[in-house]
Amino acid sequence: MPTVLLINGPNLNLLGSREPEIYGSTTLKEIEEQVASTLKKHEINCKTFQSNSEGELIDWLHEQREADFLLLNPGAFTHTSVGLRDAVLGVGIPFVEIHLSNVHKREEFRHQSYFSDIAIGALAGLGVKGYLLAAEFAVDFIKQKENSQSSS
Ligand code: DQA
Repeated sequence: MPTVLLINGPNLNLLGSREPEIYGSTTLKEIEEQVASTLKKHEINCKTFQSNSEGELIDWLHEQREADFLLLNPGAFTHTSVGLRDAVLGVGIPFVEIHLSNVHKREEFRHQSYFSDIAIGALAGLGVKGYLLAAEFAVDFIKQKENSQSSS
């Protein structure tokens, strides 16, 4: 069964109570369940991970290098982490960058991303829906890959 990773970076464990006017009231557990259920309908396995530590995120990603696709909200590491960027490049898993808030409408330091130029695409400002749209994109991406492998 194909595997999609869902990785959330620092402070996203606080979703539900953290600045709800910016990030909404849905908890991370609810987001993970919704993404996993979208993928399960298409017989795709979902592995989720959240950490506030850059090293833990990098180590976990290294361990999951066989996965087929990555849904990534790097949180504040979006704007700071060359290490996490290099890890994503290192494992070579195709990915979509997700942000609950529209980072481009916010403080200037949030306009810079270490991930957007290496992502297939990025979704920002669509709240939880962004995760679900990205999961649907992952389904299409994996199906297309399977079709091209079976016809070659
Ligand atoms: C975020 C945006 C980041 O700027 C911020 O540091 C976060 C969450 C978002 O989902 O909107 O922690 O990635």
